[in-house]
Formats: sequence, structure tokens, C-alpha cells
Amino acid sequence: MVVSKWDATVLTLFPQMFPGPLSASLAGKSLNQKIWTLKTLDIRDFASDKHRTVDDNPLGGGVGMVLRPDVVAAALTHVAEAPGPRIYLTPRGRVLDQKLVRDLAEQPGAVFLCGRYEGVDQRVIDSTDMMEISIGDYILSGGEPAAMIVIDAVVRLLPGVMGKENGHRDDSFEVGLLEHSQFTQPRIWQGIEAPSVLASGHHQKIAEWQLAEAKRETQTRRPDLWEQYLRAQQKRETDA
Ligand code: ADE
Repeated sequence: MVVSKWDATVLTLFPQMFPGPLSASLAGKSLNQKIWTLKTLDIRDFASDKHRTVDDNPLGGGVGMVLRPDVVAAALTHVAEAPGPRIYLTPRGRVLDQKLVRDLAEQPGAVFLCGRYEGVDQRVIDSTDMMEISIGDYILSGGEPAAMIVIDAVVRLLPGVMGKENGHRDDSFEVGLLEHSQFTQPRIWQGIEAPSVLASGHHQKIAEWQLAEAKRETQTRRPDLWEQYLRAQQKRETDA
């Protein structure tokens, strides 16, 4: 029997969105294998009135609706035993990167609160000390796709999810560089030959080519990452 390595709990007004894309590919296979688990709860089940009201107008006026703190708190209390940090998905949060993904994968799980409408009353976010995470500088219609993205990025790092052939050690961002370009058969396609060093069988030369290529691509595509990489490199040299 596999003991799950990571337990995701999702609080949402749209539980039918899950597992959605998480049921396919690596995430889906590892979910079936119980390497990780997924539990979704409908926030509406925690409303206390007969109309099952979960939101109200924003205080101070404005468009849209805000999720009530009492309803969200009741949902969070219900999952008090669920392991891991409490995460609220919001464009105001810390922007997700591979370091944060690695940190989350070290935890026993996570509880995700997906907001809709204009958001969630800030008092419940602050009083339960939730971590606020954004998946980028754009606005989604709700936190659900953002939660799926965080979950997908985490579960592929869990032991047993990726075979050796899919190893993620050389992934973009794991070493601070974008990945080098990839090539496969046929060696010559439409008159364009794949870099011949890759078929040389010379492992060291291949590794050197791949590193040089990763550096070149990072420098041209993502000057911001390249600067970070150089700074980290300098620090490693001074520390050594
Ligand atoms: N909810 C709406 N937009 C979002 C974003 N960019 N990241 C996380 N949660 C969100």
C-alpha cells in the first residue's frame, strides 16, 4: 500500500471543477496511485442561512461580491485536521516560482482557498495567517485554475511521480537557467540538421553544449533570470 506523500484540500464554490485537468497525465496517474490525495469541499455547505448565502456587497461600495469571513472561517475550521499551510490564491499574493513549489512539496500537504467574485474578506485571511499566492500578474475569474497550477507543479516533484526518464533535476529554474533546446529524430528534417554534437555519443561534450545553450537561451529570452543567475554564480564563487 502506498502511503500518500501529499494531501491537497481545496475549498471552493465550484467543486465540480476538480480534479479536472489534474485527472490526466502525471498528476492523474499519481493521484490514482495515491501518491497524493485530493479532497474538495463546497464553501456553500458552510453557509448558515436557508438561502446558503456565502457572499455580500463590499463594505464601502463597489462592484462585485465578497466572500463572508464567517462562512470561510467555518470551512477552514472543518478542515482543521488537514495537513500543511493554508493558502489563499489571489493576484495580490507572492508570485509562485520553483523555489516556492519546492518548499510546498516538502510539506505534508496544503489547504487551498479559492476565491471568486471580488475576493474574500481580509479579516479571515489575516486572522488565520494564510499564505497568499499569485500565479502571475493577470486576473483569473477565480482561484481554482491557480490552485490547480500550484498542485500540478508540486505533485510532479513528489517521490515516485516522475520516472528517471522524466527527471526534473535539469528542469528550467531548478538550476536558475531555462532549459536548453531539445531535438529528436529525424536527424535531418526539412533540410535542417539537429546539432551534430548531440549524436556524437560524447557525454561530456553533450553536457557542455547543453549548458552553453541553456545560458545563451536564458540570456536572450529572460535577461531578468540571467542577471539573477550571474549574481548567484558570483556569490557561489565568493563563498567558495
Ligand atoms: N485569482 C484571480 N487571479 C489570480 C492569480 N493571478 N493568481 C492567483 N489567484 C488568482
